[in-house]
Amino acid sequence: ALITTKHLLADAYRNRYAVAAFAAHNLEMMKAVVEAAEESGAPVILQTTPATIRYAGLGTIVAMVRAAAEGAKVPVALHLDHGDTFETVVRCLRAGYTSVMVDGSRLPFAENAAFAAKVTEAAHAVGVPVEAELGTIGGAEEDVSGEEGLTDPGAAEEFVRRTGIDFLAPAFGTAHGVYKGEIRLDLSRLESISRRVGIPLVMHGASGVPEELLRRAIARGVSKVNFSTELKQAFAKHLRTYLADHPGEIDPRRMLLPAREAVKQVAKRKIELVSGVVP
Ligand code: 13P
Ligand code: ZN
Ligand code: NA
Repeated sequence: ALITTKHLLADAYRNRYAVAAFAAHNLEMMKAVVEAAEESGAPVILQTTPATIRYAGLGTIVAMVRAAAEGAKVPVALHLDHGDTFETVVRCLRAGYTSVMVDGSRLPFAENAAFAAKVTEAAHAVGVPVEAELGTIGGAEEDVSGEEGLTDPGAAEEFVRRTGIDFLAPAFGTAHGVYKGEIRLDLSRLESISRRVGIPLVMHGASGVPEELLRRAIARGVSKVNFSTELKQAFAKHLRTYLADHPGEIDPRRMLLPAREAVKQVAKRKIELVSGVVP
């Protein structure tokens, strides 16, 4: 059965490793990620954004991931990524998600906190843990530089106290998508946020972050690491190549197999890295 992320991340936090969380847009990516986790012998989190839920359908996602988790040799959790409305969160809770993120990071502090507290009350009532974002984790294309938008450690402490959330996603220099130029993470900020809040931290925008930086972030309290872009890149690259080399192929299974395998290899490397299998 699907497990919640509560104990999963509590154990990771205590023992200074992290659980990888992957965006899964379709059956192939979902299967690839679960197989990667099984081969690595590590737990894994599958996550979907509201956009993916609109694409695939909530019931289909839950049924698919549940079925995969049932047969899996490792624990699997299903998480809502960047939940944008209370309604979306509640629909996911009812459908069987075992973890949710509420993203009110674009709101002013007090409204973000009120939104996160409301979601937390609902989710905790049904035993589901909550991740929330404070600060601005932008897109790599937005080119935010300097300290603007980064999470203030004191504000983070106040936010966690007010909301009762289980995990915090702070802004410390990562960005969604492909980084342009050098990646600069504010690891001392991350460390003081961790010390102030005392709960597992979540790293967004992990695609494109060098392995050594991932390790350093995990050593400073990051217990969940989100990957999306690198899986999409692997999927697209191998699908394109296969179709170019096999213009007569009409079988969706055969044409998607190399893409699925490529996603699995990327996921496996990330899982082994964040869980500490790869030194
Ligand atoms: P990337 O696309 O940069 O891997 O970011 C993923 C993410 O943070 C999903 O919430
Ligand atoms: Zn994110
Ligand atoms: Na990224």
